[in-house]
Amino acid sequence: MANSEPRSIFISGAASGIGRATALLFAERGWRVGGYDIDTRGLETLEKEIAPAGGVTGRLDVTDPASFESALRSFARATSGRLDLFHNNAGIAHSGFFEDVPQPAARRIIEVNFVGVVNGAYAALDLLRATPNSLCFNTASSSAIFGVPRLAVYSATKFAVKGLTEALSVEFARHGVRVADALPGLIDTPLLDSTPNHSGSATDGILARDRAPAEGPFRLIAAREVAEVVWSAYHDESRKLHWYVPVELGELETAKAAGPEALREMIAGVASDV
Ligand code: NAI
Repeated sequence: MANSEPRSIFISGAASGIGRATALLFAERGWRVGGYDIDTRGLETLEKEIAPAGGVTGRLDVTDPASFESALRSFARATSGRLDLFHNNAGIAHSGFFEDVPQPAARRIIEVNFVGVVNGAYAALDLLRATPNSLCFNTASSSAIFGVPRLAVYSATKFAVKGLTEALSVEFARHGVRVADALPGLIDTPLLDSTPNHSGSATDGILARDRAPAEGPFRLIAAREVAEVVWSAYHDESRKLHWYVPVELGELETAKAAGPEALREMIAGVASDV
């Protein structure tokens, strides 16, 4: 690895939303960005924005281990093998009561949101290990604090990502690789529009923008704020594990530890049509 190379970040799910905001923020701040996604049209516009700063893009299907390995190989060619930050971020959602969500859609959520993150960790490890002070940063979700009704399988995948983060943060310390995750609340991204709602009208459900409270932990937050958290996580020296966005979401963990049944009542009240 050449030390003269700028710091580098590989982002899955970079064509849109949180991944795209992260790509733009790191490119603005002088990092070499690799933006990878299954959405090649979205990548075309991203490439125009990050190429002046040396950024590159490429097609990636996170559910395919070979696709992940090839994307990282091609990024490593652009960075002389340097990978300071691996942002394991791509994800999809389907909302609706459990029995209304078609089983193939539920399986696809598991494949993209969890198997995809596992594939990423396997594919990136050698490069992370070869780069001093590197960070593997996974995008989990606030739905990994308490299982969210009408997002049951989505939510379960995010618990899995959070658990993987915790275990790997211990294991990968042997390799000098830090591991942490983001637990964002309601973030203003295209995901809120593209998530199919299999129960009721489009305005129902927990991801509806127009039902977001004006304040509190579930207020609508700009994707750029999550990108700032990715930046902070890399520069953090305390090896903080879970980054809640906004930070007040962390209080729900405390409430859950004190009594999950009481938190269940609160969640049922928020999701008022359950
Ligand atoms: P988004 O829909 O704007 O971006 C997700 C990106 O992932 C898209 O560009 C999509 O093409 C890509 N993607 C989907 N399947 C893929 C695959 N198989 N291989 C490669 N790329 C694939 O959504 P957003 O909101 O930016 O989501 C990013 C992450 O943040 C996801 O993991 C999501 O679950 C998580 N998240 C989002 C929240 C929100 O309120 N928007 C809240 C908490 C977590």
